[in-house]
Amino acid sequence: MTDPSLDADALRERTLLTLTTARARTTLLTSCVDGPDLTAQHSPLMSPLVWDLAHIGNQEEQWLLRAVAGREAMRPEIDSLYDAFEHPRSERPSLPLLPPAEARAYAAEVRGRVLDLLEKADFHGTRLTRAGFAFGMIAQHEQQHDETMLITHQLRKGPPVLTAPDPDPLPLSTGPAEVLVPGGPFTMGTSTEPWALDNERPAHRREVAPFWIDTTPVTNAAYQAFIEDGGYDDERWWTADGWAHVRRNSLRAPLFWRRDGGQWLRRRFGVTEVVPPDEPVVHVCWYEADAYARWAGRRLPTETEWEKAARHDPATGRSRRYPWGDADPAPEHANLGQRHLRPAPAGSYPAGESPLGVRQLIGDVWEWTASDFLPYPGFEAFPYKEYSEVFFGPEYKVLRGGSFAVDPVACRGTFRNWDYPIRRQIFSGFRTARSEAA
Ligand code: AVJ
Ligand code: FE
Repeated sequence: MTDPSLDADALRERTLLTLTTARARTTLLTSCVDGPDLTAQHSPLMSPLVWDLAHIGNQEEQWLLRAVAGREAMRPEIDSLYDAFEHPRSERPSLPLLPPAEARAYAAEVRGRVLDLLEKADFHGTRLTRAGFAFGMIAQHEQQHDETMLITHQLRKGPPVLTAPDPDPLPLSTGPAEVLVPGGPFTMGTSTEPWALDNERPAHRREVAPFWIDTTPVTNAAYQAFIEDGGYDDERWWTADGWAHVRRNSLRAPLFWRRDGGQWLRRRFGVTEVVPPDEPVVHVCWYEADAYARWAGRRLPTETEWEKAARHDPATGRSRRYPWGDADPAPEHANLGQRHLRPAPAGSYPAGESPLGVRQLIGDVWEWTASDFLPYPGFEAFPYKEYSEVFFGPEYKVLRGGSFAVDPVACRGTFRNWDYPIRRQIFSGFRTARSEAA
C-alpha cells in the first residue's frame, strides 16, 4: 500500500486516508444493526460485534499511543477484556464488555489522539515507526477485524442490513483453463514492502518445479458437479481427517447452501438466491477443497506455487508486488474492499491478470493452499509473537490472495492468512494445480 519512495508529507496523507477508510468501514459494520445485535453472539465462532469494535480501539491504543508515543493506558482495566488470548471467542459475550455507546466513544477517543500524533509523527527512528509501520499495522488490523465482522454479518440470521452493487460485468477470460508455470527459482516473501507483516518476511529464493495452475478459481458449477457425482459420499477423495470430519458433521455442500428441489440455493447477507454457476465457490473448508481437487485428478497448489504464479515475472525473473505489476490495487484490478458483497464471475478482471494469464489471484475469494502455516527461513517475530509465531505449525493451513472483503491495505502478493482446515465461515474458495508430467 505504501510506496517506499513517498516523502513524509505524502506518507502522512496516505496514512490518514488509510486509517479513515478503515474507520468508515468499521462504523458502517457496527451501525447497520441495533444494540442487541451488537452485543449478541451470532455464532460461537465469532465475537459479539461490540467486542471487535473496542478491540480495534484497544489495539490502536496499545501500539500507537503506548508503544510508539509512550503514553499511559487510558483504561488499564479493560485491556484484559480485549486480549484475544485471555478469552476465546465463545466466552466473550459473557464478559463485562463496554456497551456499544462506550465502545464507540473509546475507539473514537483513541483515534482522535492518534490523528494528533500522526501530524507530528517521525517516520524514521525505530523499526516500529520507520515508514509508518505501526500505523500501517494498525490500519491492517482494523481492516482484518472488519472482514471478521462481515463474516459475523453473514452468519447472523434475519433480514439484510448491508447492500452493495454487484460487480460490473467484465469481459470474461476466453483463455485456457490452466497455464504452465515454468520451473526454476523465484523470490518468495519480501524484505522491502514497508507495511508487510512479520510472517511475509524475509525475501528468500525458492526452487519450484514446473506446474500447471487454474487460470481462475473453481466455480460453483464445477463444485456442484463434484457434489452431483457423489463426492461427499466417496471416501477416495478425502484425507482420513477430512473423511472423519464430513461424516461426523454430515457435510453435503458448502456452508450456507440448501437444496431446493432440483437446484441449490444459498443465503448471502440475509438474501436467499439461486447459487450462481459462474462465480467462484465460497465457504468451503480445506478438506472440501482438497477432496474436490483429488476428484478432479488434481491437487491444491502449495503456498510457494501460489506465490510464484502470482508474483513471478518470467520476462525479468523478478517477483512483483501483485500479479499485474507493482501498482497498488485499483478497482479494475481486483474485487477488494467490500465494494461488492460477493465474488465476481470467474474469469473477470482482465487488468488484474498475471503475465502468464492467471486471473483473480487477488480478491474475490481467499484461496486454500496445500501448505501448513510455517515461518520463512530467517523469520523474526515483530512486533509481537501473538500475531504469527504462536500459530506456526501443522494445525493451520495457509490461504492466499484475499477475498472481496479484504481491503487493499491488508492484501499483497506476499500476504499470508491461515485457518483450521475445518473452517468455512470465512470467504474461502480455491483453485487447483497439477505437477508437470515428467
Ligand atoms: C490473520 C486473519 C488469522 O483474525 O485471527 C486480527 C488477524 N490478528 N487480530 C485473525 C488478526 C490479530 C488474524 N488472521
Ligand atoms: Fe485482533
